[in-house]
Amino acid sequence: MMNIPMVDLKGQYETLREEIEKGFRETLESTRFILGPNGQALEREIADYCGVKHALGLSSGTDALHLALRAAGIGAGDEVITTSFTFIATAEAIAYVGARPVFVDIDPRTMNLDPALVEAAVTERTRAVLPVHLFGRPADLDPILEVCNRFGLKLIEDCAQAFGAEYRGKKVGTIGDFGCFSFFPSKNLGCYGDGGMVVTNDDDLAEQVRILRNHGSREQYHHSVIGYNSRLDDLQAVVLRVKLRRIDQYNDARRRNAELYLRNLEAADILLPDENAWARHVYHQYTIRTTARDSLKEALSREGIASAVYYPIPLHRQEVFREFRSFHLPETEKAAESVLSLPMYPEMTGEQVGRVCSVLLNALGNAG
Ligand SMILES: Cc1ncc(COP(=O)(O)O)c(C=O)c1O
Repeated sequence: MMNIPMVDLKGQYETLREEIEKGFRETLESTRFILGPNGQALEREIADYCGVKHALGLSSGTDALHLALRAAGIGAGDEVITTSFTFIATAEAIAYVGARPVFVDIDPRTMNLDPALVEAAVTERTRAVLPVHLFGRPADLDPILEVCNRFGLKLIEDCAQAFGAEYRGKKVGTIGDFGCFSFFPSKNLGCYGDGGMVVTNDDDLAEQVRILRNHGSREQYHHSVIGYNSRLDDLQAVVLRVKLRRIDQYNDARRRNAELYLRNLEAADILLPDENAWARHVYHQYTIRTTARDSLKEALSREGIASAVYYPIPLHRQEVFREFRSFHLPETEKAAESVLSLPMYPEMTGEQVGRVCSVLLNALGNAG
């Protein structure tokens, strides 16, 4: 049996071992672990890669969202428009600053925040819109940006799943006031622990985050605001610098595998992710939609093939957000019932993609 995982971090490590271990040894020898030379170099390299002025390393993607919201001055009594079809961290960060997430429905085709619904959700308390580039697929930002500009709202992009994705030729994260990245190990650009980053073109916002991540301090032992301990450490920066040099290659390999999935599955009775002419999708996940989700998942599992449901319960249906239980977001609810993410990683071979597809096609044939 050919076991196929969702990701293969071990296989990737084998190919990077020498470079990463060399960097680790140098960092261990230098004992510069926090805000050291690798962290600083990584910030420059990611700013250059994204084509943006500032990049600031943080402890996690969740912190990136949290500090971005705080730096943007969003707080108690404010509302932030976002999607319910995402990982909990997106809305947790809004709650951390005392603001209220206002969930709007998704566009079923992109599974991202439906731009057509944003304006109707704006109230006098709205301060920001927080779209997520879910599964590596860019959200349609221009119409959202237009609403933000008209109502004086901040645009904060959750790019946790979309490092290297592009919207109309620009890297995601650089279109809004802030782009927030996660370097969780399984992300397209992942480290070996927790890590995150914000990018911005705004000097003042960057300075705010720089102070907030370091105990509210610009100068050692001088504290102007209550901040946090939220810095990316240098050992993680070593890993990220090694992988950043290969990120385009990794994302291209994901895109090639997506094309193979498409070629193999396009005749089947399942909904496949498609592409927008204005976006470069980086397939953090390859997520199909099907009414036979649970039986397909089982059929894959019987053959040693992993698959996962991201996300089975939308945020407005979570216990923690019970005040939103009366919300009806039909497209979000339908997506939660029908999505299935298939194995997708740069090291995945064409043969492995073919195997996943043949098991799926067989199962669909049997089901019919
Ligand atoms: C959409 C989204 N937002 C935010 C996060 C939070 O990132 P982290 O796990 O690095 O805190 C994640 C990933 O975990 C995510 O998928």
